[in-house]
Amino acid sequence: MSVQTFLDDKSRTWELFDAKVSKHYDRISDVISLGLFRRWRKALTQQLPAGESLDILDLATGTGAIPFSLLEGAASRINSIVGVDLSEEMMDVFRASAEGHPHAAKLDIQYGDATKLSLNDNSFDAVTMSCGLRNVSDHHACCEEILRVLKPGGRVIFLEPAVPNTPLLKAAYRTYFRYVVPSIAGLVSNPTAYRYFCDSVEAFMQGPDFLAFLNETGFVNGRDISLTLGAVRLYIGEKPVSNG
Ligand SMILES: C[S@@+](CC[C@H](N)C(=O)[O-])C[C@H]1O[C@@H](n2cnc3c(N)ncnc32)[C@H](O)[C@@H]1O
Repeated sequence: MSVQTFLDDKSRTWELFDAKVSKHYDRISDVISLGLFRRWRKALTQQLPAGESLDILDLATGTGAIPFSLLEGAASRINSIVGVDLSEEMMDVFRASAEGHPHAAKLDIQYGDATKLSLNDNSFDAVTMSCGLRNVSDHHACCEEILRVLKPGGRVIFLEPAVPNTPLLKAAYRTYFRYVVPSIAGLVSNPTAYRYFCDSVEAFMQGPDFLAFLNETGFVNGRDISLTLGAVRLYIGEKPVSNG
């Protein structure tokens, strides 16, 4: 299927994460991010809300990169992490890595759609979503669901790749992701998935537009943190404590 098919109908993007992609996903993420993905995940962990015994939901959890990073950086403050995804192949990799993990008991891996969650209202202190909102069919519906399942005052943290603003960096970024990344990833994985990555990042909202969207959806205290010269951004928002 062509990249355009997935850009036109994002309800099917999970199909890109088939066995061929899932098997190599973590290694390719490390290679194409030049080892920086670990650092970006660490930066996300540092944005967890204060407090102990946190219940966290990780949407588009994939192979569990974010849950493992959260546990590495903050296990003593975490009570539970529910990881939700539509790709069984990605979650199979997550399940295999969770086996024997020292904090496996805190992990709950569930098949589910981030735009239609079968989880209770007001049940999480934090929701994380890395490289996920861009891939769902309806990002409004997804954020409404996040607001529903967050406890009042709870925090959402998105990690999304972005296109740097300065012309020179933008040109370097485009060349790298349009030509170099699909060639590297294509050696062992599905090049369509990585061409889709580049096109979907360029087409998606970023920076002030993302924050305005969070604000319109009903989040408060929105913040945007730029990492690695703007190649990745963290977007943070909170569920209002009261409706009034
Ligand atoms: C690029 S991967 C990100 C995985 C992980 N969060 C990370 O940062 O490494 C995107 C994931 O989104 C999942 N996905 C796509 N649409 C989804 C949806 N509607 N609900 C839940 N997961 C979805 C895909 O199956 C895939 O595992």
